[in-house]
Amino acid sequence: LSVVVLAGGISHERDVSLRSGRRVADALIEAGHRVEVRDPDAGLLPYLAERRPDAVFPALHGSSGEDGSLLELLAALGVPTVGSTGAAARRAWSKPVASSLVAQAGIAVPESIVLSHEAFRELGASSVLRVVRAAMQGDLVVKPASGGSAQGVSIVDDPTELPRAMVEAFTYAEVAVVERRIVGTEIAVAVIGTGDEARALTAVEIVPTTGVYSFQERYNAGETTFFAPSRLDDAVVDAATDAALLAHRTLGLRDLSRVDLIVDGQGTPWFLEANVLPGLTETSLLPLAIEASGATASAVYDELVRAAVARDA
Ligand code: DAL
Ligand code: MG
Repeated sequence: LSVVVLAGGISHERDVSLRSGRRVADALIEAGHRVEVRDPDAGLLPYLAERRPDAVFPALHGSSGEDGSLLELLAALGVPTVGSTGAAARRAWSKPVASSLVAQAGIAVPESIVLSHEAFRELGASSVLRVVRAAMQGDLVVKPASGGSAQGVSIVDDPTELPRAMVEAFTYAEVAVVERRIVGTEIAVAVIGTGDEARALTAVEIVPTTGVYSFQERYNAGETTFFAPSRLDDAVVDAATDAALLAHRTLGLRDLSRVDLIVDGQGTPWFLEANVLPGLTETSLLPLAIEASGATASAVYDELVRAAVARDA
């Protein structure tokens, strides 16, 4: 098949996407496909309209691909595309919307408050702190309401640090989330497939050298130790895997996602977020989960491309 892999874009995660795209292209070439890698610039739609590839594989992260807008254009063009619809991507892209939907399905979600930049300026730092303290105790995590690769995310253990952390989050999004920090084991569960057919890959336990899985720990080999399978008890892994599958279905995600969770000391899995176009670089979690599950990236991406083509036939 002829496949166009989209990589790059203009999001904060452009460089990560270029790395993901290269890996996906190599894996699809290995599977026997004809592959072109293309940046989704202004010339993209005319190019696709003329080329009419059999499928598009968006290896795009951040607003470029995960906010759903480009995915809607691709759908309008009628090109079979791997991954979620624009509408589903938008649900997952907004962490507050995703958390709320997933909580309704019965999955544990950390308490949080959501503040716009305007509200933050209007209220002032001391009122914000009062609002936060009325909603939750303990350490906090402050993050942009949408975004990836932990950019703009801070852990706040000293309340005087809250304003700085919020300003940092606002550099990535107009809305910020302040949530209670769940202390425990961070795990990622990759999901392949759609609806009742979706299956979870081996859960990966993440142990960053510094204790925090930041940008640095994500994209430099050796900065994080991964355990796949994780060292957690089977029952706990099963609960986390069930939660990930339920989140994938509840958000209406298609083909692939990676659900990030923290398992607390009692073994409860807490939902952090679902990524519709998770990192596919050489240090990323989904490729690792594929390997740990006894499959190959080449076979799994081939399956996804074929599913996109079949859906459109
Ligand atoms: N946003 C990055 C690419 C990830 O979720 O892996
Ligand atoms: Mg993410």
